[in-house]
Amino acid sequence: MSDRINVGLVGARRGPSFVDGFRAIDGVDVTAICDINADFLASQAGRFEIPNSFVEYDEMLQSDVDLVVVASPMQFHVPQSVEALAAGKHVMSEVTAAISVEQCQELVAAVEKARPLGLKYMMSENFTYMRHNVLIKSMVEAGLFGDIYYAEGQYVHDIKDLHYNADGSPTWRSRWQVGVNGCSYGTHSLGPPLEWFDEQVDTVVCLGTGRHTAPQHEAEDSTTMLCKTTSGALIEIRVDMLSNRPHTMAYYALQGTKGCFEGARGLGDVPKVWLDRFGSGSTSRETIDTDPYEWRPLEDLENEFLPEMWRNPPPEAIAAGHGGTDYFIANDIIDAIRNNTDPRIDVYRALDFTMPGLMSQKSIALGGEPVKVPDFRSGFWD
Ligand SMILES: NC(=O)c1ccc[n+]([C@@H]2O[C@H](COP(=O)([O-])OP(=O)(O)OC[C@H]3O[C@@H](n4cnc5c(N)ncnc54)[C@H](O)[C@@H]3O)[C@@H](O)[C@H]2O)c1
Repeated sequence: MSDRINVGLVGARRGPSFVDGFRAIDGVDVTAICDINADFLASQAGRFEIPNSFVEYDEMLQSDVDLVVVASPMQFHVPQSVEALAAGKHVMSEVTAAISVEQCQELVAAVEKARPLGLKYMMSENFTYMRHNVLIKSMVEAGLFGDIYYAEGQYVHDIKDLHYNADGSPTWRSRWQVGVNGCSYGTHSLGPPLEWFDEQVDTVVCLGTGRHTAPQHEAEDSTTMLCKTTSGALIEIRVDMLSNRPHTMAYYALQGTKGCFEGARGLGDVPKVWLDRFGSGSTSRETIDTDPYEWRPLEDLENEFLPEMWRNPPPEAIAAGHGGTDYFIANDIIDAIRNNTDPRIDVYRALDFTMPGLMSQKSIALGGEPVKVPDFRSGFWD
């Protein structure tokens, strides 16, 4: 294969947000786009100057694309990824990786079958690339938090408008995001903490608030899953796509023996840390109200610990979708293809992020019973 890489997008709404990122890389171009909605397809192809457009996915797979970005609705991620790999294409899939355990099995089988051919699969969990999240990871690696044992992630985003089409018919989000109870869309919240812990979830417990705002949906307004990791740490994930309120899509917190982090919650709040290295006031408190610990803005740690990728991001990164994260993702999959290495979020990592949400559906249906999370590295799950 020549070093030149042609990218094809499937799903003409989310797909094009990667265009600037790919086009900023030497020898990479976005040459094809596919969507079942012919009018929208034509307008997006024109807007993003993508030369080849396809209503039929199979036809795009027969064209000269090398990498397919699967940015269609969630239920199509696995079938379209499997088809692309079988057609000899690399795949970058949107979140979540799959909507069922059976789909996870199919995906792993297809990726393993394509591996000897050098084909790559990556899931584009963009929240793991966010500036604060990579900074926290680098601080964890430097030992600033000591031994870490607790984290939180929240995706609270009222997207009720996206649950119905203009004619009142339900959209795919009605079925696959709020049509199933549990933390089904949990990868944005779980991905970054799992990267900090650098491990997997062993067991999940999930409970919900009951149905209040849009009770016609299967999903309860807020669902919380407690994820026990393989080392025994605890990660608390809240997913809410229904409640009436301003959004908090990327809230995280972390606690270790030597420090803690809390993200911003809006209204002037800033991400903040307390670290043992700051020192603390007297621990012999004169009054119950005296707090020996003091927060500092997370920003103060950037000079020392911000990874290179975020120090001087090229203008293309700043311009790319989702605060630059779509540029870094595009770079990672292209690097993996060109260097024949495993992408950062390969199929197993993608399922580490995705499976706890699927198992949370089982736990909540069982009234909050703990449910074991399959690890596909050790073979297929019965
Ligand atoms: N990572 C992120 O931050 C982020 C943000 C938004 C969406 N997403 C993900 O991207 C995906 C798409 O979301 P969206 O907001 O663009 O959805 P959307 O409903 O706005 O758009 C989906 C598009 O896919 C097209 N489509 C539907 N079925 C298709 C098929 N079988 N083949 C080809 N095209 C098809 C539709 O016509 C539509 O244009 C979802 O999986 C979503 O979870 C991720």
